[in-house]
Amino acid sequence: MKLSQEQLAEFDRNGFLVIPDLFSAEEVTEIRRAMEKAFAEDHPANVREKKSGVVRTAMGLHLRDETFAKLVRHPRLVEPAQQIAGENLYVQQVKINVKAAFEGEQWQWHQDFSTHHHDDGVPEPLALNLHIFLDDVTDFNGPLYFFKGSQEFGSVATLHDTETTSYALWVVEQDKVREISESCELVAATGKAGTALIFGDCLVHGSPPNMSPWNRAIFSLILNPVANAYAKEQRQDHHHHRDLTPVRPLADDCLLEPAL
Ligand code: SIN
Ligand code: MN
Repeated sequence: MKLSQEQLAEFDRNGFLVIPDLFSAEEVTEIRRAMEKAFAEDHPANVREKKSGVVRTAMGLHLRDETFAKLVRHPRLVEPAQQIAGENLYVQQVKINVKAAFEGEQWQWHQDFSTHHHDDGVPEPLALNLHIFLDDVTDFNGPLYFFKGSQEFGSVATLHDTETTSYALWVVEQDKVREISESCELVAATGKAGTALIFGDCLVHGSPPNMSPWNRAIFSLILNPVANAYAKEQRQDHHHHRDLTPVRPLADDCLLEPAL
């Protein structure tokens, strides 16, 4: 699947792109089946919320289930990413951030690049984050908030926050967030299950706690150009996979074909 010139221009301008209905209800059901299995596992790559202990994020999924092994090669994710970031991309990170009803905690203001750079030694902010909504994401169940166009600020100074949640994150300082808010509109990325999002490594984003009674699960695949690979291996590999083999897209119906 290829993005149109208008979609590419929108991505350049806003730093993100929303694609409604990219995955069908049947495909979402298949991904959710694999998700339930992964969440039920007692696995070191399942990170739990600090307060409640429910799963916050389940990582390394393409190495844990065949459905996710196919999803990281899905042409509706990989081909748009190749249009933006070049042909040779490796699978950097594969996860579902669930943000459970009542219990899901916040993701502080950040740029993904800060973590990729400080923790993994990625040289340039060229990685792409590709999301698929696995629940309807509304204003109420903890959607991502994007500062539209904030990628224009480039890579900004960050602080390593190991306290606020169970997931250590390099976060943008409040004064900087205030400055960015003066020129960039804040938008909530909402949509029905099956909606996809693509955003770049310098987009400033975060998400509030989920106090609603509705879960909010989002699949996230980070692809990074092979030529821009990690230079540090200090984190466990489910945070940043080491296999630099470029992903090649499978057939469009790969998720629904029976297992071999
Ligand atoms: C992220 O920024 O990577 C996660 C945000 C979220 O899942 O709400
Ligand atoms: Mn992020």
